[in-house]
Amino acid sequence: MRAAVATRFDVDNPLAGLEVRDLETPPTPGWARVHVRAASFNHHDIWTLRGLSGHRVDPPLVLGTDAAGVTDDGQEVIVHAVVAPGLLLSERAPGTLADRVFAPAENLIPKPAELSFAEAACLPTSYLTAFNMLFGKARLIPGEHVLIQGAGGGVSTAAVLLATAAGLEVTVTSRDEERLRRARELGAHHAIVTGQQLSDRVDAVLETVGAATWAHSLRSVRPGGRIVVAGATTGFDPSAELPHLFLRDVDVLGTFMGSPEQLGLLANMLATTGVRPLIDSVRPLDDITEAAERMVAGKAFGKLVVEIS
Ligand SMILES: NC(=O)c1ccc[n+]([C@@H]2O[C@H](COP(=O)([O-])OP(=O)(O)OC[C@H]3O[C@@H](n4cnc5c(N)ncnc54)[C@H](OP(=O)(O)O)[C@@H]3O)[C@@H](O)[C@H]2O)c1
Repeated sequence: MRAAVATRFDVDNPLAGLEVRDLETPPTPGWARVHVRAASFNHHDIWTLRGLSGHRVDPPLVLGTDAAGVTDDGQEVIVHAVVAPGLLLSERAPGTLADRVFAPAENLIPKPAELSFAEAACLPTSYLTAFNMLFGKARLIPGEHVLIQGAGGGVSTAAVLLATAAGLEVTVTSRDEERLRRARELGAHHAIVTGQQLSDRVDAVLETVGAATWAHSLRSVRPGGRIVVAGATTGFDPSAELPHLFLRDVDVLGTFMGSPEQLGLLANMLATTGVRPLIDSVRPLDDITEAAERMVAGKAFGKLVVEIS
């Protein structure tokens, strides 16, 4: 099969070990084969290439946690990437950035006909995480106000689209004027420069940026509010500033992806509302290094999709 492979890990230069090559991997007994039509690239793939995926994995390995495709018996499916508690495809078994992937049958979610394969391939990681952060962990309801840190990331753009579709008030932050403009176009009600003080504190904060925005998240949430943390692109160890939590009764919730049931609900939400994932760009698998470069340079706005013919 043809696949995007991490041939070695390099913490400072993650792209050094990224190659598209032919290789054979044995099928996992009992898992279903999916002929991948589209996959998408995530920051998780960069962490893997840096050797920081969070699990002991050895190169070479097939990257990728997002895919949509067709099973041997012709069903169009979306692949849910969590194959064991806390473990994703690419960590436990070959990943999705390949022309075929194996996954447990219970991880295969019917793809709504309304979604293209490219759109469906955006859902299992960024969109599912955003869905779970908003509605699972933060338990936000229409009319509440959410702050989404970092305008352009895959999770953040997903969160803006899903939150506005669900009737939430949305504030988004970015270091970049152009990204703020695009976030407003996506539906954000307020778009402010990273770190700028809010006029009113929010009910919940979605935090994926990490060290660069953590202090702002703590100061922006209302007493009794929630901060949901899914990632820390800019660093894992900001000062905890504990008094902000206990003096104002703030809940901090960590989150890891979401369930297959939530992935089904998310797919149905998109099919029925007409909301579609924001795609930065679509490329053939052989050009995946360009997608990885866009992510490392922080240039992507939305999902980086790979189509596999
Ligand atoms: N827990 C889970 O289940 C889960 C699932 C998916 C992703 N994640 C994690 O979530 C994180 C986000 O991933 P992603 O792919 O959505 O996006 P990403 O490409 O990592 O970018 C996130 C945002 O970070 C902001 N940013 C980057 N450097 C910054 C800096 N120095 N100061 C302030 N802001 C900065 C950028 O905002 P601007 O450029 O607009 O300022 C960008 O929009 C990753 O760490 C990923 O591993 C976790």
